[in-house]
Amino acid sequence: MMTQRPSRQRCEQCGHEIDELDAAGSCPRCGGLLELEHDFPDDAPALKARFAARRSAMVGPDHSGVWRYRELVLPSIEPSAVVSHPEGNTPLLGRSAVATWAGVERLLMKHEGHNPTGSFKDRGMTVAMTQARRTGARAVACASTGNTSASLAAYAALAGLPALVFVPAGKVALGKVAQTIAYGARTLLVRGNFDDCLTLAREASAALGIHLLNSVNPFRLEGQKTIVFELLEQLDWDPPDWIALPAGNLGNTSAFGKALREAHAVGLIARAPRIAAIQASGAAPFAASFRGGFAERIRVDPDTIATAIRIGAPASWDRAVRAITETNGIVTSVSDAEILEAKAIVDAAGVGCEPASAASIAGVRQLRADGTIDRDARVVAILTGHVLKDPGAVVSYHQETEPPPAHANRPIEIDARVSEVERVLASAGR
Ligand code: F0G
Repeated sequence: MMTQRPSRQRCEQCGHEIDELDAAGSCPRCGGLLELEHDFPDDAPALKARFAARRSAMVGPDHSGVWRYRELVLPSIEPSAVVSHPEGNTPLLGRSAVATWAGVERLLMKHEGHNPTGSFKDRGMTVAMTQARRTGARAVACASTGNTSASLAAYAALAGLPALVFVPAGKVALGKVAQTIAYGARTLLVRGNFDDCLTLAREASAALGIHLLNSVNPFRLEGQKTIVFELLEQLDWDPPDWIALPAGNLGNTSAFGKALREAHAVGLIARAPRIAAIQASGAAPFAASFRGGFAERIRVDPDTIATAIRIGAPASWDRAVRAITETNGIVTSVSDAEILEAKAIVDAAGVGCEPASAASIAGVRQLRADGTIDRDARVVAILTGHVLKDPGAVVSYHQETEPPPAHANRPIEIDARVSEVERVLASAGR
C-alpha cells in the first residue's frame, strides 16, 4: 500500500501546529482541542474506485469499514500498525413501521450497533488505539457514559495495553458495565456525573502520562468520520437531505461536520446534507444554545433516561457549532417519553437500539411534525448503539411501568398447559 506524508495536528483555538506523531493530546501552547489536517488526493473518481475495490477484502485493514477509507482518516498509517477488530461495515436499514411513525417515507437507519462492541465508538477507537500504540502509550484511559469504556476496554485488550476507565457510579447501563469489566479494563465508578469523570480523566492522564482516548482526542474523530463516508458510499455518493444523530459530548456531531466538509472538498459529494443533532431534553445545553444563535456556551445539570447522552458540559462544543453552522443544521431536544416511544417502535420493527439512539428517530419525527423536514426528504438517522446495551430500559418500559405504555409488550406467566397457551392466544385475538 502507498503511504503518504504525515498529517498535522492543528489547534482549533490558536492555530498552533504539531506533528502527527506528537502525543500531546491537546495544544501545548493554549490547551485548545486539536484537529487533524491531511493532504488529500485530488482525484475523487479514483478514490471512490479504490474504496469500492477494498470492499471485497475478507481480512486485514481493507476489510474494516474504517480503514477502507484510510486516505481520509490517517493517510500515513502502515497497514501492519493498525489495531482493528475489524469494525464498521454497518447496515443502512429501511423499515416502513419506523418511517411511518416518523412521518418520513424515505427514512433510513444507519445501525452502528452492529460494530464489534455494539456502538459507533469502535470506529473512533480503532484509530485512537492505533495511534496510542504507534506513539508508545504505556496505558490508555477514558471517561465514559459506558459505550466508550466498553470500546476502549476491547481495543486495549487487542492492543495489549492496560486500560483505565472513569464512569459515573450508578448511571451506566448494565450491558456497558458488563462489557467493560469482561474485556478487562480497570473500572472506576466515580461518584459524580460524566462531566466530573471527564475532568478527572483529563487531570489524571496529564499527571500520570496515560493516553486519554476520549473524543477530545482528535484521532477518535477521524475514525468516526467513516460513519458518514460509509453511508454516503452506500447511497452511491448521492447525499441524503438530512443526517440525524443523537448528541451528548458532541464528538460525533463534530466528526460528521468534518467528514462532510472533507467529502465535499475532495469532490466525493456535490453538496452536503444538513445535520440534525438531537439531545435529550434533560441534557440539552447545545439545543438551548442553538435557539439563542450559539451566542452562549451553556452548561446544565444533566438528567435523562438515555444515560449515554446524560452530559451537561459537552467537550467538543466549538467544533460542533461549526458542524451545525456549515451544514445549515439544526439542534433540537426530545423528551424521555418521546425517546422511549421511538425506541419501542425501532425495537418492535426487529431492529432494536439503545435509548440514546432512539433520540435520532424521535428527533426526525419532531422535525417532520414542525415542517423543518419535508415529507419526501431523504433522511438517514444514526442508531448509535445496540438494544442489548441497556436491558434495564427494556425491562422497565415493557414490564414495570404502570400504567403500561402504549407499546408495552408484557410477558405473561403461565402454567405448563396447552389450555393456558390457548387462553393467551384467544385474548390476543389470534
Ligand atoms: N449515542 C450513544 C449510544 C452514545 O454512547 C453516545 C456517547 C452518543 C450517542 C453521543 O455521542 O458524545 O459524540 O455526542 N457516548 C459517550 C460515551 C459519551 O462515553 O460512551 P457524542
